[in-house]
Amino acid sequence: GTETDYFVIDDEVVGKIFRPRQEFSHKGTHGKATMVAGSYGKIGAAVLSTRAALKAGAGLTFTLAPRCGYEILQTSCPEAMFVVGGEKYINSFEIDENSACGIGPGLGTDPETGKNLLQFLKDYSKPLILDADALNIISENKKNLKLIPQKSIITPHPKEFERLFGAAQNSFERLELARKKAAEFNIYIVLKDHHTQIITPEGKVYYNITGNAGLAKGGSGDILTGIITSLLAQGYTEEYAAVFGVWIHGKAADFAAEKYSKESMLPTDVINELGNVFEEIN
Ligand code: APR
Ligand code: MG
Repeated sequence: GTETDYFVIDDEVVGKIFRPRQEFSHKGTHGKATMVAGSYGKIGAAVLSTRAALKAGAGLTFTLAPRCGYEILQTSCPEAMFVVGGEKYINSFEIDENSACGIGPGLGTDPETGKNLLQFLKDYSKPLILDADALNIISENKKNLKLIPQKSIITPHPKEFERLFGAAQNSFERLELARKKAAEFNIYIVLKDHHTQIITPEGKVYYNITGNAGLAKGGSGDILTGIITSLLAQGYTEEYAAVFGVWIHGKAADFAAEKYSKESMLPTDVINELGNVFEEIN
């Protein structure tokens, strides 16, 4: 690539992307977010992604989760609405086309879940956010990659990236592979790492410098998915939702580390710092 398609996400980039809330807005103005997450024993992933979506500003937030998560979600996320997608695992993907939808945290890879997810992808044409087990299900067969709706955002960590697209020798090669795949499938790839990179279908690369090793804990990725879904719901473009979401996630983590240390900070603390991030840029 050339220097012109390579961007560090700095204050200037963020300032250009961020759109402050308008005085006379109402919840309809800020869009609907739907989190599709959780399975028996992993309802926490649904809670974390839902709370992150709420705290990142979506007007209305829905969580499609298995029935076994009903009380947990209604209690821990009273602002969100519950949609039943199965008993212990999600098997029904009935999703409002007017909402931005993030699928995958804690989903599990039950064969029924997989079959129904792939069928849903065949019929759905709007951009989605796909993470974690949604990506693992897609990885089971390379032919599934072309089921990903155009302009979707995928958020693999290095292992998930490798399952999807194969191994790379080093991070430079991985970036080149990501550029090739983002163009081939017309998708945005959020390559999660110490310094996360966002690759657009046109081959632009955004490099993130917020975040810290306090994020190296189960659940950190789940909240990133919630944040990006929430931003997409609010009308940010796919490119900006991914770029701004990754930056916000890291910035909130930096605030959490200052308060609680990298060792003790939890994904929940990161969610609770989102307010300070918005305060700073407003
Ligand atoms: N420095 C900066 N950022 C980091 C660091 C670090 N050292 N370590 C992790 N992060 C960030 C990543 O950039 C990413 O945004 O934390 C997030 C981690 O996301 P995941 O790897 O998806 O982790 P997690 O939430 O634990 O995933 C939960 O889902 O993806 C599956 O296999 C995964 O079972 C696991 C579950
Ligand atoms: Mg993850």
